[in-house]
Amino acid sequence: MTGSDFVVVANRLPVDLETLPDGSTRWKRSPGGLVTALEPILRGTQGAWVGWPGVPDVEPEPLIEDGVELHSVPLSAQEVSDYYEGFSNATLWPLYHDVIVKPEYDRKWWSAYVEVNRRFAEATAKVAADRATVWIQDYQLQLVPKMLRMLRPDLTIGFFLHIPFPPVELFMQLPWRTEIVEGLLGADLIGFHLPGGAQNFLYLARRLAGQSTSRGSIGVRSKLGVVQVGFRTVRVGAFPISIDSGQLDEASKSKSIRDRAKQIRKDLGSPKHIMLGVDRLDYTKGIDVRLNALRELLDEKRVDPEETALVQLATPSRERVDSYVKMRGDIEQQVGRINGEYARVGHPVVHYLHRPVPRDELIAFFVAADVMLVTPLRDGMNLVAKEYVACHSDLDGALVLSEFTGAAAELRQAYLCNPHDLDSVKDAMMSAIDQDRETRRRLMRALRRQVLTHDVDRWAKSFLSALGNGEVGGSALMSE
Ligand code: ADP
Ligand code: F6P
Repeated sequence: MTGSDFVVVANRLPVDLETLPDGSTRWKRSPGGLVTALEPILRGTQGAWVGWPGVPDVEPEPLIEDGVELHSVPLSAQEVSDYYEGFSNATLWPLYHDVIVKPEYDRKWWSAYVEVNRRFAEATAKVAADRATVWIQDYQLQLVPKMLRMLRPDLTIGFFLHIPFPPVELFMQLPWRTEIVEGLLGADLIGFHLPGGAQNFLYLARRLAGQSTSRGSIGVRSKLGVVQVGFRTVRVGAFPISIDSGQLDEASKSKSIRDRAKQIRKDLGSPKHIMLGVDRLDYTKGIDVRLNALRELLDEKRVDPEETALVQLATPSRERVDSYVKMRGDIEQQVGRINGEYARVGHPVVHYLHRPVPRDELIAFFVAADVMLVTPLRDGMNLVAKEYVACHSDLDGALVLSEFTGAAAELRQAYLCNPHDLDSVKDAMMSAIDQDRETRRRLMRALRRQVLTHDVDRWAKSFLSALGNGEVGGSALMSE
């Protein structure tokens, strides 16, 4: 049997097919942290990636990009609505993010989720070589491990969840909770960002699937939990994801990017303090929280609108899901209100761009920003926080970071805040703005040590070596 020795399976391919106004198509980078993390890992490995091309009713031929074979799984418009926008993003996404909005439980959406997961499993079964390693990603595909194992018992199967795994009490709301736990148990190794998520899952494997499990505590990249599923042993662990920190560090030092950062500063009117937010436009990200905090700081005259600019870059996301439509309206109203009250002609306080920004331009924004605002109400990791740190070899920057992100477990020297407590966010913003130079440099140095030594390569290696004891098919992934 031919096929790939190493296969990544994710809802999206790393590139989305885009239809241009003249009807022609082109590929563009897909949004989100999953692609940011996995794309450099796969580049040049001769592996394969199985995923949806991002638009309904198309099935492009397999293509090879950077040595990786991309295999499309087609979705109909109805499946995009029921499986992707419905069950994935209006049921699982809010349920797994602490029910910030109310999850909807719809039997038709669940059927579509089962059907699409089956299609992913079948597509993967065709692409994977004999005894290959398959790495399934994220909440959209939680049934694939079990379905794939039934089709291809020869495979080594890993699963990684990129979002938080919720507290048991919340997970128990899900009408299909047992099916999800059993679906995941088809994997040989199930990875979460944090030990807490792994621990929650172990409890549910006992309670819902009736399996016997280990009971000791789970460590970070160590002390895996164990679930005994018949003759199979499933391992469960915590593997905090990261970024290609070395590449960003390098890029951020280049002359062209530093020049561009200077120009951005000038274009903003050379304010004393540039604050930056970079997010998919998602209600979990707390964009409203930071805007409220800024407005109160302006009202209280703790921040001077003449000296301060906030740039909010927001990638459009899930634009047909109701809660996203409403949130966009609310945020744009908040931006309008702040500028209405505090801007001058040609001198807004909040600069809001509702679009993805090219990678080099984004790095220039990170370099230009004095204070990075990362204020999610809940986030599995948050790669933006790490990206900002990687871009500040000048040590001249401060990170305001929500305690409710996975990143907060590692980036302890950030200005941590509770996004549910506006005073805590305001105080963190003020400390970040006012901190003396020496302290700021000391904190950034410590943050950088963490981010540069714990990069995405280390994440992938620790997961894959736990999965396959150091060998991944014919790829060079595991070599130092
Ligand atoms: P999520 O996976 O929930 O989107 P992360 O913070 O983990 O959140 O990852 C988001 C990724 O998308 C990061 O690599 C970030 O740089 C990128 N990104 C977010 N907003 C933008 C934007 N406006 N333009 C370009 N890239 C963006
Ligand atoms: O990690 C969170 C995540 O949902 C990824 O699974 C996904 O690729 C990314 O964010 C972007 O979301 P979407 O694919 O729904 O645009």
